[in-house]
Amino acid sequence: MVNILVVGSGGREHALSWKLSQSSKVDKVFTAPGNGGTKNNVPIPVENIKELADFASKNQCFTVVGPEAPLANGIVDYFESKNLGIFGPSKNGAQLESSKIWAKQFMKRNNIPTAKFEIFDNPKEASSYVESVDHPIVVKADGLAAGKGVIVCNGKDEAFSAIDTILVKKTFGDAGNKIIIEERIDGIEASYIALSDGNVAVPMASSQDHKRIYDDDKGPNTGGMGAYSPTPIIDESMAKKIQTDIIDKTIHAMKKEGNIFRGFLYAGIMIKNKEPFVLEYNVRMGDPECQPITMRMDFDLYDYLHAASAGDLNSLPTPSWKKQSAVCIVLASQGYPESYPKGEEISGLDADDNNSYVFHAGTNFVNGKILTNGGRVLGVTALGDSLKNAIGNAYSATEKISWPHKYCRKDIGKKGLAYL
Ligand SMILES: Nc1ncnc2c1ncn2[C@@H]1O[C@H](COP(=O)(O)OP(=O)(O)O)[C@@H](O)[C@H]1O
Ligand SMILES: [Mg+2]
Repeated sequence: MVNILVVGSGGREHALSWKLSQSSKVDKVFTAPGNGGTKNNVPIPVENIKELADFASKNQCFTVVGPEAPLANGIVDYFESKNLGIFGPSKNGAQLESSKIWAKQFMKRNNIPTAKFEIFDNPKEASSYVESVDHPIVVKADGLAAGKGVIVCNGKDEAFSAIDTILVKKTFGDAGNKIIIEERIDGIEASYIALSDGNVAVPMASSQDHKRIYDDDKGPNTGGMGAYSPTPIIDESMAKKIQTDIIDKTIHAMKKEGNIFRGFLYAGIMIKNKEPFVLEYNVRMGDPECQPITMRMDFDLYDYLHAASAGDLNSLPTPSWKKQSAVCIVLASQGYPESYPKGEEISGLDADDNNSYVFHAGTNFVNGKILTNGGRVLGVTALGDSLKNAIGNAYSATEKISWPHKYCRKDIGKKGLAYL
């Protein structure tokens, strides 16, 4: 038996620890720092890599890293230098996410389909480039900006002001020392996530996120307001194409360049005229995509994460998935993604049934009560025999839960239904 340390505190980490705790090989699952829904919380922030390593060593844990920041900070390299088992990419591998410029140049030199682009650090040169092109554009800060560093522009004025925001006003700090200006691809967006051991990559179930705060994809971008799996947007032939032309190519090129990539590889995809383009890579599970995906896993997640970290995925059978659909509705606090109240008591949380599970995100457990403690508070996730049923099951589970400033989108999964 092995203990597990899950690093992170969001809905994704609750879903990972929930699934890992079901393994017959797993004894105790710790989460650092965790949230109001995770058990055995360890009060070590994700930045304190050395303290996390000491804890993992003392408690004989295999560590699973949820978010990108500790990966980009080299948590995996540090643990491996101490001979501690850990799942996730190295600091070099994490560059696929931590530097959008690094990722774009990697894609270019390896012929991986992505929007055409130029790189700038000088606002004047960036603006004259914008003047010179006749296609719509997207301006992206190079570094990690908590999902806020990308500005999709309608018209040149928006592009000039995006350049000003990132390069001159430095709204994203050093993450905006350089920018990418790329061609806007207007297509349909989906997520494709695979699990790699550095040599091969097995697909996880397909999914689709809902990034904007309001129904019908209106309003500002958020961390994600809900997701469902599988998505009809990625049919079998599209999945094959993405796997071969994007995922396998990425894993092989990383290996060839000396940056063996072990971990979840997430490709944000735009499909236009039946061709997939990579918008970005993430080097970890998506949040909230992780919640419906883990609910559909019909395999022992520990076996697969452990094999991936050991470069040994070929020793396991292809992962199998529940045929059912799963839908995750994010319950947020009104005001998110800007400012919102915290500390409100949540009621109705004891109504889990066989089809649904409530993954916590921005919550904490204080004096026997669960309180809101973040913008995205809960991810209510349900299975169903069809996408339509899963949507119904998930929404009916959300109705039992309340707090004064609860908010959710009412159309999660509708994009998938429209596609069927
Ligand atoms: N080239 C592009 N064409 C059209 N939309 C884009 C493009 N690049 C990004 N986007 C949109 O912006 C969103 C955020 O961009 P992304 O590259 O995923 O960065 P991040 O998730 O780090 O904010 C995407 O989900 C997509 O909707
Ligand atoms: Mg993205």
